Amino acid sequence: MKFNIAVISGDGIGPEVIEQAKKALNAVADVYDHTFLYKEALMGACAIDKTGNPLPDETVILCKQSDAIIFGAIGDPKYDNNPSAKVRPEQGLLRLRKELGLFSNLRPVKAYDELIKNSPLKEEVIKGTDIAIYRELTGGIYFGIKELSDDGNIAFDGCSYSVEEIERIAHLAFKAAQNRRKKLTLVDKANVLETSRLWRKTVTNLASQYPDVKLEFLFVDNAAMQLILNPKQFDVILTENLFGDIISDEASVIGGSIGLLASASIGKENALFEPIHGSFPQAKGKDIANPLASILSAAMLLEHLGLHEEAETINRAVQKSLELGITTEDINSERSFPTSKVGDFIADYIQHQEDSNLNFQNIHMGQITII
Ligand code: IPM
Ligand code: MG
Repeated sequence: MKFNIAVISGDGIGPEVIEQAKKALNAVADVYDHTFLYKEALMGACAIDKTGNPLPDETVILCKQSDAIIFGAIGDPKYDNNPSAKVRPEQGLLRLRKELGLFSNLRPVKAYDELIKNSPLKEEVIKGTDIAIYRELTGGIYFGIKELSDDGNIAFDGCSYSVEEIERIAHLAFKAAQNRRKKLTLVDKANVLETSRLWRKTVTNLASQYPDVKLEFLFVDNAAMQLILNPKQFDVILTENLFGDIISDEASVIGGSIGLLASASIGKENALFEPIHGSFPQAKGKDIANPLASILSAAMLLEHLGLHEEAETINRAVQKSLELGITTEDINSERSFPTSKVGDFIADYIQHQEDSNLNFQNIHMGQITII
């Protein structure tokens, strides 16, 4: 089959990790006889440098025409350290999410056995953790009215949610729970916030449509603690935009490296796939960034296109790279491989598969070690 993929490499390590994701997709295309037509688009600091706009119109048009979008990272220290900058790279991503209506952000968090020792959390606490975080992505405080008083002394960020905004993602989270361990935890701050009370009421009203799913509620401060105290209690977590941003970074500690967390942002008509790590400017161009989150994002993209076996093939290749220790320095600083070589290995594994060559492991380990 033929698919149009919009590619937004973005800033920092974005281009290098996206290149590895494309290698994996190309290998899949080869093995399963698909065609992926990539079209590059600008967003973020690189777009500001070239056009003055963090999200040029052509990028939005291209994304709307595509079957799926793969995105790297956004951000640049020259903006982070300048709070008065009027134009910022992040505005590009936020506007793209809004313009494409990408309201549902799925962030899976898994404790890979091979990485358990990498986590600062105890093995018995995290082993077996498997959580799907559903973060609302186009509402809440991120998109509320923002104001700064004329004298610059008072700032305001408004937060609002409608029943419709809550319901559309809640349905997806309930459905996901039905296909998993049938538990949904709504994370909110209903003891303080009006919007959170609306979330609770709306989600509670929907629960009768999903009688097989157990619905629980947790205040976000408690949830932040429970996530590292006993993450295995969670199956699907549903939460609003800002809380989801924060707890998903926190949850990445369970996986041993934020370099492994992929995400899918889904709307009615468009879908974007991105690693949740940022632009990691210190690593830019050094060939040391972990490409696995991007590669796993490519797997989520395939899943979205209905290519389940193909997605599974990528997931298996990532699993293999972890088993063999063909990983970047964030995972093992004593024995690490460059970003590009991890990407080569994954693509190679997708193409040749273990069973097709008994010596696979030796040959490939050999190749990679020589390089
Ligand atoms: C994320 C990021 C973004 C967010 C930034 C880059 C605007 O942190 O995708 O989690 O806050 O949503
Ligand atoms: Mg974030």
